Amino acid sequence: MQGLYIHIPFCISKCAYCDFASFANIKRLRMPYLKALKQELILQKKHYKNFEPKTLYIGGGTPSFLTLAQIKFLFNSIYGCYKNFDEITFEANPESLSLDKMKLLKKLGVNRISLGLQSTNDKHLKTIGRAHNYSQFLEVYTQTKQYFDNINVDLIAGLPNQTLTDFEQSVKELIVLKPQHISVYGLQVEVGTPLYKSGYECDDNLCRKMLESAEKLLQNAGFVHYEISNFSLPKYESKHNINYWTSGAYLGCGSAAASYMQVVRFQNTVDVKEYIKSLEQNKIPTVFKEKLCGKARVGEEILLKFRLLNGFKPNQKMFKYFNREFKNLFDKKLIVKDKDLLHLSKEGKYFANDVFRCFVEPF
Ligand SMILES: C[S@@+](CC[C@H](N)C(=O)[O-])C[C@H]1O[C@@H](n2cnc3c(N)ncnc32)[C@H](O)[C@@H]1O
Ligand code: SF4
Repeated sequence: MQGLYIHIPFCISKCAYCDFASFANIKRLRMPYLKALKQELILQKKHYKNFEPKTLYIGGGTPSFLTLAQIKFLFNSIYGCYKNFDEITFEANPESLSLDKMKLLKKLGVNRISLGLQSTNDKHLKTIGRAHNYSQFLEVYTQTKQYFDNINVDLIAGLPNQTLTDFEQSVKELIVLKPQHISVYGLQVEVGTPLYKSGYECDDNLCRKMLESAEKLLQNAGFVHYEISNFSLPKYESKHNINYWTSGAYLGCGSAAASYMQVVRFQNTVDVKEYIKSLEQNKIPTVFKEKLCGKARVGEEILLKFRLLNGFKPNQKMFKYFNREFKNLFDKKLIVKDKDLLHLSKEGKYFANDVFRCFVEPF
């Protein structure tokens, strides 16, 4: 399969924990940015003539922070180059997804909405600098349900002052709302963010208890834990993300967007102004490019496949390059073999980064 990712780097305000390539206070750059995106799509279409993405993911940042006219412009640009998507996801934040935007998105072919909630507790939402409260989310969610039958909601575990009971409350309240997909992320305190500067440290034991509890609550409610951070009702797994985790090709357009095309990984500049300027001169501002070969390619394939909890059938190449690492991980009981499928053990799910590190250079 092949996927197209479009990055929208604008946010109303910056959340205290977030180090994604997204910025507040540059909303005046939205139209010049969309024009640059159009140009990048045209150039990439000429370059990768046989590329036919089946999934489209518009993420950020905050795509719903675009105006109606800007959303129309964006889709015209995309459809001018690529059509025939099976799944089109649009990321939205509660404070900027209006009824008019929902109607427009539906008309434009969007069939999956991903809403960032993080917590149902207003105190916690305020602490992490979210621009919405829970009742705003509820209102938007109820309207979204009338237009879309495939909705994801994001939650974060391990927020400042969040107890296990607080977190479980968020999960339970969300289950009642019956979205088709729920992502649960353990909080990462990223260097340089306001949260990091505040000196907050995540209690790993507590966070693990929260994630274990989320798994139980969601499985009891009929959700399938199909990827480390992702749960879905049967048949509602994110097709776009599954393509990433199975080493499918994807093209990322926009500032900071990453791509994996013809076994080459590359990424655009994070700098929005530089991105616009470069495309005004018909140049794609690639800042990183690497061809994945041999052991590095196999290692990448293994670590991505381990993210999917169903497991995978290892091939000879995998054992040729990583026999020692596999043995080590079996000894530590972080991975298990079930029939002929390899997957993370119950313990391994919570130490996934340690597992992944074994398959990343330097070996
Ligand atoms: C690409 S982000 C942006 C989505 C959208 N702008 C929003 O805020 O709802 C997708 C999700 O990543 C998660 N996320 C972002 N930063 C995180 C962090 N430092 N630790 C854990 N999860 C994080 C949040 O749940 C967020 O909704
Ligand atoms: S979490 Fe979402 S809304 Fe908050 S700063 Fe990051 S991208 Fe923007």
